[in-house]
Amino acid sequence: MSDTHVLDSPPPGAAADWTIPQHWDRYTPEEHATWDTLFARQAKLLPGRASDAYLRGLDVLKLSKPGIPDFEELSDRLMGLTGWQVVAVPGLVPDEVFFDHMANRRFVAGNFIRRPDQLDYLQEPDVFHDVFGHVPMLSDPVFADYLEAYGKGGQRAMQHDALKYLGRLYWYTVEFGLIQEPEGLRIYGAGIVSSSAESRFALDDPSPNRLGFDLARVMRTEYRIDDFQQNYFVIPSFDELLRATVETDFAPLYEELKRQPDIPVAKIEPGDEVITTGTQEYALAKA
Ligand code: PHE
Ligand code: FE
Repeated sequence: MSDTHVLDSPPPGAAADWTIPQHWDRYTPEEHATWDTLFARQAKLLPGRASDAYLRGLDVLKLSKPGIPDFEELSDRLMGLTGWQVVAVPGLVPDEVFFDHMANRRFVAGNFIRRPDQLDYLQEPDVFHDVFGHVPMLSDPVFADYLEAYGKGGQRAMQHDALKYLGRLYWYTVEFGLIQEPEGLRIYGAGIVSSSAESRFALDDPSPNRLGFDLARVMRTEYRIDDFQQNYFVIPSFDELLRATVETDFAPLYEELKRQPDIPVAKIEPGDEVITTGTQEYALAKA
């Protein structure tokens, strides 16, 4: 994610732009097998659940090829489709580094993979989350433009001291977004598609709210990083997401938002387009 980081200069072995070699040849057979296990599980679950654009991306990028993808091969395919590349970084990087890569159509990905005992959950983004979760969407021309615009918007948000608001837009779209397709609600957020349990929860569970996407509303909404979301926002189409964000100057919006209170995770507000009113039973049971 863009809003936390640990180091402030590139660690030994990293370039000035924080990239490191993927070292694809150093993955062990066990590490490739972890990818294959995770891939098989999600590939079975996602048809009928993931958005059309996501599923097309999996296919055109040949992500079903066994083993952890080689970033160079993947970047070649992606470059031909939308001009994006995938570059390896050592875990989380500073915001300005993250935004600079994104503004230049480079998606930063972790090169390590979770351990076999962490198949279901880990906090830091590994290669499965970053590549399986995010990269298929980068093959979609509209989403590809959205992420580049987001990177540029990040540089602006830093000047306005507004990363909190822009970070929430990322969270509720790129990581946990849902889309209304003709056949029904579908997932496109990377945090959902890369999680077996949340791929079901986000669409099927009665607990979370599902609300129509509204830019200012999303930017005011708190989120949780430690468990399933209590709120998902639904876009009508990627064109509409791009239109709503690219055609709006965020600078005056940020100033307005600074004068308004944040909205707690589970709260429904007057004016919300409510698709599902969640029972919140899942979150309440844990509280
Ligand atoms: N329009 C935004 C701004 O003025 C930039 C942006 C576009 C941010 C798309 C996110 C997504 O800062
Ligand atoms: Fe992510």
